[in-house]
Amino acid sequence: MYRTHTCGELRIKDEGKAVMLAGWIHSMRYHGNVTFIDLRDRYGITQIVAENIKEGDIKREFVIQVQGVVKKKPQPNKKIATGAIEIHGEVRVLSTAKQMPIDIEGNTEMTEDTRLKHRYLDLRRRPMQDTLMLRSKVLKATRDFFNKEEFIELETPILGKSTPEGARDYLVPSRINKSMFYALPQSPQIFKQLFMIAGYDKYVQIVKCFRDEDLRKDRQPEFTQIDLEMSFIEQDDIIGINEKFMKYLWKEIFGEDISIPFQRMSYKDAMNIYGSDKPDLRFDLELYDVTDIMKKTEFNVFKNAKTVKCIKVKNDFSRKEIDKLTDVVKVHKAKGLAWVKYDNDLEGGVAKFLDSVKKELIEKLNLQKGETVFFVADEWLITCEALGALRIELANKLNLVKEEWQFCWVTDFPMFEWNEEDERYVSMHHPFTMPKISDAEELDGELAEIQSLGYDLTLNGFEIAGGSIRIHDMHIQKKVFEKLGLSEKEANEKFGFLIEALQYGAPPHGGIAFGFDRLVMLMSGGESIRDVIAFPKTKNAEDLMMGAPSGVKKEQLDELGLQLKK
Ligand code: AMO
Ligand code: AMP
Repeated sequence: MYRTHTCGELRIKDEGKAVMLAGWIHSMRYHGNVTFIDLRDRYGITQIVAENIKEGDIKREFVIQVQGVVKKKPQPNKKIATGAIEIHGEVRVLSTAKQMPIDIEGNTEMTEDTRLKHRYLDLRRRPMQDTLMLRSKVLKATRDFFNKEEFIELETPILGKSTPEGARDYLVPSRINKSMFYALPQSPQIFKQLFMIAGYDKYVQIVKCFRDEDLRKDRQPEFTQIDLEMSFIEQDDIIGINEKFMKYLWKEIFGEDISIPFQRMSYKDAMNIYGSDKPDLRFDLELYDVTDIMKKTEFNVFKNAKTVKCIKVKNDFSRKEIDKLTDVVKVHKAKGLAWVKYDNDLEGGVAKFLDSVKKELIEKLNLQKGETVFFVADEWLITCEALGALRIELANKLNLVKEEWQFCWVTDFPMFEWNEEDERYVSMHHPFTMPKISDAEELDGELAEIQSLGYDLTLNGFEIAGGSIRIHDMHIQKKVFEKLGLSEKEANEKFGFLIEALQYGAPPHGGIAFGFDRLVMLMSGGESIRDVIAFPKTKNAEDLMMGAPSGVKKEQLDELGLQLKK
């Protein structure tokens, strides 16, 4: 027997009990005849007064067992739950520890690489344990909720078929079928639709997805989705049940009542007003369109631009600060960042070019003394995205972000998106998304104008879920493939089994998938999904602890019938 209690359990009511505890030495102090030890486990910290330990016998992070008696602490420590008591007794060392490469108490700055290399030690730290325990609670609440709602939890294969649409696939060579590859799933999309065709009605899966894409703070090559699909439903049904899900989660995890329904916004409005399809609504700073006004100036940059948009903020900026902000918009392909200051009159920056439209501009923007206006002139999407990024930069810089939960559904996405590289239309969501049309023939119109029945749920400027109503009518599906430039042969090669399945009685259906890691990241107040994943990959898609990816032996390659290019 190692312990009778955990390190977070004993209270003053336990005074006098004979107990056994086990855990890690968090810290210690030698004090004459006795040694004070803070003993730590997942549940908390208990102070030990060890009577059989001499200086040098033990070190931090040794694993020890303590056998002793609970006594009242002369000076209680109000900061910890067990702070009223201490255990007087004898220590037995169960396991020693080398010098720690990681500061478990977290008092010193560590690089993320150090933390990832010794992740099992990093995971000993309190903040990491709290986060992973939160993750576990959210998982449980998710299962409980969908279970109550009569969803069936079903699994789908990890070894699948490559369908190069969307992100790049991770490939796995087949040994038995030489020259052939499996692909790891980017999502269980097709399988969950097959479950609907098979009559399962409501499906849920908490599932790993794999995408070989450029990584960011909110993107990992393998990540977890809460994946859902439902039959005989419309967009409002999916939105409704997921609002209920979010309300349930917030109540279970934070005891907080969030109000539903959430705000809804069209993709167009989100882009025009907030410069993003995942608008952060915790602060205002809206974008204004001033294209028409700027057509009347003699400033060529503005006069000839397809779109001119701007954003205003009450603040003074130095030359250097403006240069920095210019760098922000340039990342988003803007050619520059023009500005003016307003103090009873337009001043500085491009003020001299705006004389002829001054009055109109001041009125349109309702300019107030002390405000600075930033302009970007370009194609519509570039002006939106560049100023959208500037909006976030300004809000952070000027501390305008309120502490609140701002959920928002973004709907009415374009069905098709022009791809410059391939010079063809691609699906904005995926090719099984239902277009928002009343008649299949509408697909023969202007493709850029067609919207889809796709929707995203956003929270505080992050896309936490995305989904759509699917096509269940083969006539429409074939037309969509045609518009995407997929010949019948190609479509059959890629998704033949789905196309076939859709012809055996497919119910109207739709679904959504949450980015589970992103959701937990936001709920934990973190800024990187790496902090909510036990063993994440770096920006270079490496696991620094295991040393993956790694080379393999020639024999392994031979067995697979593979040869590496020099
Ligand atoms: P989508 O591609 O929008 O939809 O993915 C759903 C959600 O998953 C999260 N996500 C990611 N999280 C971490 N790292 C990544 N690399 C990553 N990529 C996506 C996002 C996103 O909202 N099959 C469809 C869903 C459907 O139509 O039902 C799908 O996968 O939070
Ligand atoms: P220039 O005439 O190129 O010196 O530009 C004058 C100002 O306009 C500079 O502050 C530029 O950053 C800015 N500017 C240039 N091109 C654009 C653009 N497309 N949109 C917004 N500002 C721009």
